[in-house]
Amino acid sequence: MPHATEPTYKHISVTPIGPTIGAEVSGVDFSKPVPDEVFREILSAITKYGVLVFRHAALDDRRHVAFARQFGELDDVKPYIAAGRKNRFDFDELFDVSNLEDDGSLVAVDSKRDHLSRGNSIFHVDSSFNPRRAGFSLLRAAALPPPGHGGNTDFADTRTAYDELPSALRSQLQRHDYVGAHSIWHSRKKAAPPDSPWLKDVEPRDFPMGRHRLCQVHEASGRGNLYVAGHLHHLEVEDEGVEGGWREVEAEEGTRLIEELLAWVEQERYRISVEWKEVGDLVVWDNTCVMHRAGPGTFAGKYMRDMRRCTVHDSSSLAWGLNEKSDKRMGLP
Ligand code: OGA
Ligand code: MN
Repeated sequence: MPHATEPTYKHISVTPIGPTIGAEVSGVDFSKPVPDEVFREILSAITKYGVLVFRHAALDDRRHVAFARQFGELDDVKPYIAAGRKNRFDFDELFDVSNLEDDGSLVAVDSKRDHLSRGNSIFHVDSSFNPRRAGFSLLRAAALPPPGHGGNTDFADTRTAYDELPSALRSQLQRHDYVGAHSIWHSRKKAAPPDSPWLKDVEPRDFPMGRHRLCQVHEASGRGNLYVAGHLHHLEVEDEGVEGGWREVEAEEGTRLIEELLAWVEQERYRISVEWKEVGDLVVWDNTCVMHRAGPGTFAGKYMRDMRRCTVHDSSSLAWGLNEKSDKRMGLP
């Protein structure tokens, strides 16, 4: 008997891969557009599990983008290209998350691209620093390092971590209803060597940040969620006595709380690690209820790991947080 809250599936098979998040899905024919009735089951599975793994989906770039579009409006790399970056792909909706330079050569250890991409190695959600945050991400393996060299993608369950918050922490969050300010420069600096020539003089405050409530309702499931990420630079609280109506939480106290919450969510019991087994594997996650990171590995500078991502804009009522609506993107120098 399925668990009481387990949706029933007629078209797909769903096998949980962790205690609270993550499931492997089979039975989807990716050689043609995914029919609505199948797609609806995929949506209900991701609402419950937050992370879905599709083994050997074998999508090409075009079908990857087409499948992503079924989830909603897609983010694209046009602003980065306008700023002078190249994209190896024919589709502006594909984000290059590989360890390859634009010309296809391996990113050298301690190069600029290496330092900037290390932000992915700490737990985060995609695009919380942009005016409109990401909903779903669809990551596909186009080339993988040989087995034994790491390179998993790890996930952490921010809904169950929220449910199980220690009561003192929970009441502190309820009392203040904090807003978190997210900066991609903050997470990049956090993950790179402190003396990185490309990051040491960058001041995150010189760039706009994305502002979102820490405690949220994940609309699709109706469950509470802790919207935290390695991008969290500082916290703010509403204060009528201050110009603008927002007061920044004092740095030491804010940082302590951010780190305490991240450590809480990153506990082993809320985590799963997804191994990329074959080229063609596809992993889809909901950034509004799980964090993720590129797991450790020994392939850097030695083996290709060609990962391509479609990013779906969030379409829930919390998509823009407290941000002004604009199509600006952060992360450009
Ligand atoms: C991403 C990301 C992790 C990985 O694509 O957003 O963080 O394992 N990727 O490559
Ligand atoms: Mn990411």
